[in-house]
This record gives sequence, C-alpha cells and structure tokens, in this order.
Amino acid sequence: MDDMYNSVPVRSSEITPKSLYLRRRDFIKAASVLTGGALLAACAPTGGSGPSPSDPASVALYKGKTDELGDPLNSYDDITNYNNYYEFSTAKDAVNPLSRNFKSRPWTVEVSGMVSNPKTFDIDELIKMFPQEDRIYRLRCVEAWSMVIPWQGFPLSKLLNVVQPTSSAKYVRFVTLMDPKQLPQEADTTLYPWPYHEGLRLDEAMNDLAILATGLYGAPLPPPDGAPIRLVVPWKYGFKGIKAIVKIELVDQQPNTFWSDIASDEYGFYANVNPNVPHPRWSQASERRIGEITMRPTLMFNGYGDKVAYLYKGMDLKANY
Ligand code: MTE
Repeated sequence: MDDMYNSVPVRSSEITPKSLYLRRRDFIKAASVLTGGALLAACAPTGGSGPSPSDPASVALYKGKTDELGDPLNSYDDITNYNNYYEFSTAKDAVNPLSRNFKSRPWTVEVSGMVSNPKTFDIDELIKMFPQEDRIYRLRCVEAWSMVIPWQGFPLSKLLNVVQPTSSAKYVRFVTLMDPKQLPQEADTTLYPWPYHEGLRLDEAMNDLAILATGLYGAPLPPPDGAPIRLVVPWKYGFKGIKAIVKIELVDQQPNTFWSDIASDEYGFYANVNPNVPHPRWSQASERRIGEITMRPTLMFNGYGDKVAYLYKGMDLKANY
C-alpha cells in the first residue's frame, strides 16, 4: 500500500525498536516519490472487464452478475493483478508475477487458544467440511480504491463453532505464513513486523458476512489474493483481510495488528469503512472503483450497515477508526 506506506512521520518518541524499519520506510518513501509516475500508471484501468486468455474457465459462469447494488464485477484480471501483498512486493502489479510459484499445498490452519476443541486442519479437509458459498462483496481499500469481487468460501462462524470458544475468549487473532523462502520480503525483519497479523472482536468474527475465502470466480483462490485461505470482512478496510492464514487463535485481549503496530494513529483496530472519518493524510469520502475513471461516494460500512451497525452501538465511530 504505497499510500499507506508513504510519509508516516517518524515521531521522536519512536526511537527503538521500531526505528529500524521506520528509517527504512523513509528511504522507501523517498524512492516511491521518485517512481510516482510508475505507481500512477499501475492505478490505471486495465482495459475494461472483458475476458482475458488467462481467465479460468469458470469465469464465464459469472458473466453479467452484479453485487446487490447492481454494480458489475471487476474482471479476474483486475482482481489478480492489482494487489496489496507486502510479503511479495509493495508494487501492486508485481505481486502476481512474483507469487506465481507460491505453494499452497501442503497447508494447515491451526485453530487454538481459548477453545474447547483446538485442532489443526489440513486445508483440503477444511474446504470439504463446509459448503463453499458464493459471496459477491465490495472490497474498499483504505487507499480509496475499490473492487467488486465474487469470492467462494464459508462463514468464519462455522469454523469457530467447531472449535468452541470458551467463555473467556473475546477476540480472534489471525496470522499469515512466515516463510521467507516463499514470501521473500519476510526475510527482512527490519522492514515490517512480520508475519502479517490481524484481529477481530469475537462478535464481529461471528457475523455472517465474515468469511474465510478459498476461491475466486469459481476457481481456487490464486496466490496474489491470499491462497489458499484468507479473511474477507467487507464492511472494513481491505487491510483487515489477512491472506495466507496459518493460525487462528482465540484470545481474551484485543490483539495487536500489523498496520497498527506500524502506525497506530493511522490504522486502527476496528477500521470500519467510514466516509465521515478521513485518514489523517487523505479523505475517505469517495473512492475510485478499479476500471472506472470518476470517483464514487464511499458508503458507511461499505454499504453493509444493515448487517453490522449493531456491533458498534454506543461506540464512538470516529474514535474507533
Ligand atoms: N495480507 C497479507 N498477508 N499481506 C498483505 O500485505 N494486504 C492487505 C490485505 N491482506 C495484505 C494482506 C491489504 S492492505 C489489502 S487492501 C488487501 O489484502 C488486498 O487484497 P487483494 O490484493 O486481494 O485485493
């Protein structure tokens, strides 16, 4: 997320141990200013939503489908070539080529912590455990771009019900694979607080909209989008949607998250899409749908308020960015 990554001021209070990667980040900030033209080019529409020779055959089944607001799906090409996946690269168009040889088998997901039935699931066993549902969701990135994506997957609540959180469990913590051989940027532990980690409050995790996605356009989830399994929480900014999950842990304290560890004043734990609360460095009132030229207004909770607003009753939504 070049915009996220740029120009986070180094505060004098941050001397150590974060200073190493913050200094490194300033260097990259300078570099990305220099390459600004190239980054803008990467944001350009990729030529409409027509089929591409690299599309899986199943893409044809989605022809003409829209989200519930009537907006068309982004193309498979857009969804798999415009990615934020810092373990590969900070350049969105570099993720697809760099992730081509990513091995998502064998793969296990450990579900542990404050649960009655901790278990490590083989990914194929996990996929067979629950019917894979189609979910067409908007993805709104905190950088003010968005897409409409046809995911396949299953509600996170179904998995949590299998392991049975104990009464002390209050939050769910997610962790990405740590394997610098496969995810090359992880080799530099001064750059970012690897592995990528995220979290939800338990009631957010139990909401039916929260899914673990295992497929895209009817085909297995491809590496740039988080193969073999990633979180999708469509009412929150995209950075909550952690990719390549290997561990899900039930805990009693609000867990740290990757982006709040880097800049807690810019990327909060809740990160609900909210057009009324600007990011400290840019407005969140509107967004650019990838493939479109003009901006469109951003919707409160990304348009999913009727299903999730109850979760935040009584909370100050401004303070809980
Ligand atoms: N998960 C991991 N492990 N690493 C990342 O860099 N980027 C996040 C999120 N999940 C990221 C991640 C961000 S910033 C966004 S916007 C979404 O993934 C982007 O998902 P997409 O590339 O499938 O559109």
